[in-house]
Amino acid sequence: MSGVATMTEPLLEVEGVDKSFPGVRALHDMRLELRSGEVLALVGENGAGKSTLMKLLSGIHSADAGHFRLGGEPYQPASPRHALELGISIIHQEFNLVPHLTVAQNIFIGREPRRGRLLLDERKLNADAAELLDRLHLRLDPRAVVGELTVANQQMVEIAKALSYDPRVLIMDEPTAALNDAEVATLHELIRRFVRPGTGVIYISHRMEEIKRIADRVTVIRDGEYIDTLDMATAATPDIIALMVGRAIDTEARPEGVRADREVVLRVEGLRTRDLLKDVSFDLRHGEILGFAGLMGAGRTEVARALVGADKAEAGAVTLHGEPVRIATPADAAKLGIGYLSEDRKRFGLLLDQDVKANIALSALRQFTKAGFVRDCALRAKADRYVGALRIKTPSLDQTAKNLSGGNQQKVVIAKWLAKDCDILIFDEPTRGIDVGAKEEIYQLLRELTGQGKSIIMISSELPEILRMSHRVVVMSEGRVTRVLDADEATQENIMHYATLRPDENPADAAELGLAPEGKAGQS
Ligand SMILES: Nc1ncnc2c1ncn2[C@@H]1O[C@H](COP(=O)(O)OP(=O)(O)OP(=O)(O)O)[C@@H](O)[C@H]1O
Ligand SMILES: [Mg+2]
Repeated sequence: MSGVATMTEPLLEVEGVDKSFPGVRALHDMRLELRSGEVLALVGENGAGKSTLMKLLSGIHSADAGHFRLGGEPYQPASPRHALELGISIIHQEFNLVPHLTVAQNIFIGREPRRGRLLLDERKLNADAAELLDRLHLRLDPRAVVGELTVANQQMVEIAKALSYDPRVLIMDEPTAALNDAEVATLHELIRRFVRPGTGVIYISHRMEEIKRIADRVTVIRDGEYIDTLDMATAATPDIIALMVGRAIDTEARPEGVRADREVVLRVEGLRTRDLLKDVSFDLRHGEILGFAGLMGAGRTEVARALVGADKAEAGAVTLHGEPVRIATPADAAKLGIGYLSEDRKRFGLLLDQDVKANIALSALRQFTKAGFVRDCALRAKADRYVGALRIKTPSLDQTAKNLSGGNQQKVVIAKWLAKDCDILIFDEPTRGIDVGAKEEIYQLLRELTGQGKSIIMISSELPEILRMSHRVVVMSEGRVTRVLDADEATQENIMHYATLRPDENPADAAELGLAPEGKAGQS
């Protein structure tokens, strides 16, 4: 479909680009063409080379071979600053904001307006920021401290900063990984206002529905090489996925229904926190995946955090295998065999300067070895198993975690929890930032774990994932459980109905919540 006559003028061209890191060939003979006035999606599995290519374009790394052209002219950025001056702005997968500075200070960092040589012109700084934010229709206070903003608003600050340079090309590396639907819509509006003849956007994401909505064309890369570029209007999602992973994957299989006969391993009753949770009760059964669904802010993450003692619960009783237990800290939870993979694993879960094997296996092996003495081969054997099972893309077990691609870093954190051999695992957004192929591997692994008798609580904002994986689904709204659904009654519509139910609105429903003790959950 290349016969379309409009907007075919190339804005940015990449040709024959190679890039290697020690032990890793990240890009080989890569090419790409961004046209004037278009949004080009760039997709590929974790570790395919997307971020590396963007880092070459934004002057962070330099290419080993090949060349770029911007607006028909040779383009060779010597540094990130140089790239900005030449017209390429990037929003990185990892945020680059300074948490203790304000919104305005972050946007204009390094080019603050001054009075005289030294004095910072604070008023002009804030006024400039306010004007920019206004122009972008972003409702943010220039004086707010960035570290205190929500992740979504921090993302908006990143975008405001990138657009403040008036770029010709805006690169977004997984801009929506942490955003909810409304925030994604805001972001897409911003993008639509930005693209016009003479500008363009490269948009990296693992979310296919989103790419369908925003992109004009999609370029697929695999293992550092160019595969194909398709027109979005005619491309089918399964075809794009097949090009990405180089094989067809089954995204249909669903678990069998309720496991009412299974022993209840964990019972939570009347869990309550000061801010949000109101009498949350549920059972987790042996060998089951219990999905937690709900809108952003419904309290799913809060349940997990209060349960493992990461936040303080005001009230609530937890019973483990029939015995009452007290869990005051995540360490208590871990000792009882309850593992918690937090939603914010980049910040809490990964030791960036440690190597892959230490990240995966060190904390697991500590339990079994004396006084910090760990046999290297045991560590390697354990780490190696999970690197294989999750297909973590790394040249060796000794690679430093910060050198892995974003998605592969996430897999390392998941591997760490799997290696710990807990009976109960709580996963908050386990596949965020993970490519479609790798998602299937994680699903497969979760199923195997339940087959071995482990029980899993899975919090996810992706309904298809909840529907595919859960034996039962706990639906939450405004800090309460509004319904527990069996796999066979769980549908997208059903879940959305209970997720948007005001819990006090419909007392009749309370009778059939399926929350009564004695394992009657889900039977009405
Ligand atoms: N600084 C570095 N040192 C060593 N290897 C690196 C470095 N940066 C990237 N790599 C490797 O290059 C390959 C491509 O990584 P890249 O970050 O470009 O992947 P990606 O497509 O962005 O993946 P994701 O979807 O997980 O973000 C990976 O194998 C990664 O481990
Ligand atoms: Mg990346």
